Amino acid sequence: MERKEMFEKFLTGMQGIEIEKDIPSLREVFKGSLNIGTSVPGYDLTKPNFETELIKKHFNTVVAENCCKMMNVYKGPGEYFWDEADMFFDFAKENNLRARWHNFVWHGQCAPWIFYKDASKVNMKDFFENKVLAEDLASSEQIDKRVKDWIQSVCDRYRGQIVSYDVVNEVISDKKFALRTREDHSYWQDVMGPDYVEKAFHWAHEADPNAELVINDYNLETISEKRQAEYDFVKNLLSKKVPVSAVGLQGHINMRSSNIDFIEETIEKYASLGVKVLVTELDVSFFDHEDKSPLILSEENLKKQADFYYELFECFKRQNKKGNLSDVILWGVSDYTTWKNHFPVPGRGDAPLLFGKDGKAKPAFWKIIENV
Ligand code: GLA
Repeated sequence: MERKEMFEKFLTGMQGIEIEKDIPSLREVFKGSLNIGTSVPGYDLTKPNFETELIKKHFNTVVAENCCKMMNVYKGPGEYFWDEADMFFDFAKENNLRARWHNFVWHGQCAPWIFYKDASKVNMKDFFENKVLAEDLASSEQIDKRVKDWIQSVCDRYRGQIVSYDVVNEVISDKKFALRTREDHSYWQDVMGPDYVEKAFHWAHEADPNAELVINDYNLETISEKRQAEYDFVKNLLSKKVPVSAVGLQGHINMRSSNIDFIEETIEKYASLGVKVLVTELDVSFFDHEDKSPLILSEENLKKQADFYYELFECFKRQNKKGNLSDVILWGVSDYTTWKNHFPVPGRGDAPLLFGKDGKAKPAFWKIIENV
C-alpha cells in the first residue's frame, strides 16, 4: 500500500475513537525528571484524531516517524521537499512540544542519488542489490558537499525548534561489530570514507551549536558485542573531540526475553564516557523476535507487559536521578499505528505501547505512574 493511502486509512479508521480526558498526564507525572516523548506518524496532522489528542495530553517531546528521513526530504542536489516536515514542526510549535530530528545519516530510508556521481542516473535495483559500480559512485568531495548541505539546510530551516538530532543512525554492524560497509547494506563508509561519522557530527555542531547531537542504534541494550563496539567507537570519537553529546538506545525490546539489568548496565556504561543516554524509540513487544505465534491480547499478557514496563521505568527513574538518562521516547503513540503490527510478522499485530487501539490507557500506563 502507498504511504499516503495507508495514512488516510488510519485517519478513517480512527474516527470516533475518544481518549480518556480525566486520567493523569504522563508528561505532568514525569515533569522535572524524564522527558516523555513519542514519534508522530505521517498522517495529516491538521486533521485531529485520537492519537494527536494523546500526544497533546501526555507527551512533551516529539520526533517524526518518517517525514524527516532523508528519502522523504532530500530529493536531489539542492532539492528539498519540506511540506511534511513543516507540518510536523508546526504541530510541535502549536502544542509547545520539544522536537527531535531523526535523522541525518542512515543507510535505511536514505536518498540513493546521494551516492551517485551523476545524481540523475540512479538505478534503484542495483543500489539495493549492492551492485553500483565503483566508477558510478560519487567522489568523496561530492558526497561531503551533499551531506554538509543537507545538514545545513535542515538546521537553517528549523534551528531553535530542535532540541536534539540523531546525527547518525545504526552505523555499527550486527554481524561484524564494526562500522557497517556495503556488505551490511550501507554505502556510507565506502563512499564517504571511514571518518564519515566524525564529519557529520562536526557539520551538525557547526550548523546548530546548541543542540544535543546523538549517535543512535538498536540492539545496544541486547547484544553485548554490539554494545562494546559502540562504546569503543564513541570513546574514540570523544578522544578526538568529536561533539557527540549522547548515545541513543533505540529500545525496540520485548517483554519475553529483554533483560532490564542489561539495559541498566548499558545506560551506565555509556554514561561513564561522560555523555548522556536517551531512549529514542521505545516499544515493548509481546513477542520475542523469533516468535511467530498469533497475538493474544489477554489480561495475563497485558499484566506481564505492565510488570515489564514498571521495572523498566524504575530503571529509567534511577538512571535519571543519577543524571545519566534524560529522555524516554516511545516509538509510536498507540497500538493502532505501531510499526510492530507489521514487523517482524506482516499483519500479525502487536501491542507494544502504553495506549491501546481503543485510545485507552493500558495496564502498563497505570503501572508506570504508580510509583512516581
Ligand atoms: C529503526 C529506525 C526508525 C524506524 C524503525 C522502524 O529503528 O531508526 O526510524 O524506521 O526502525 O519503524
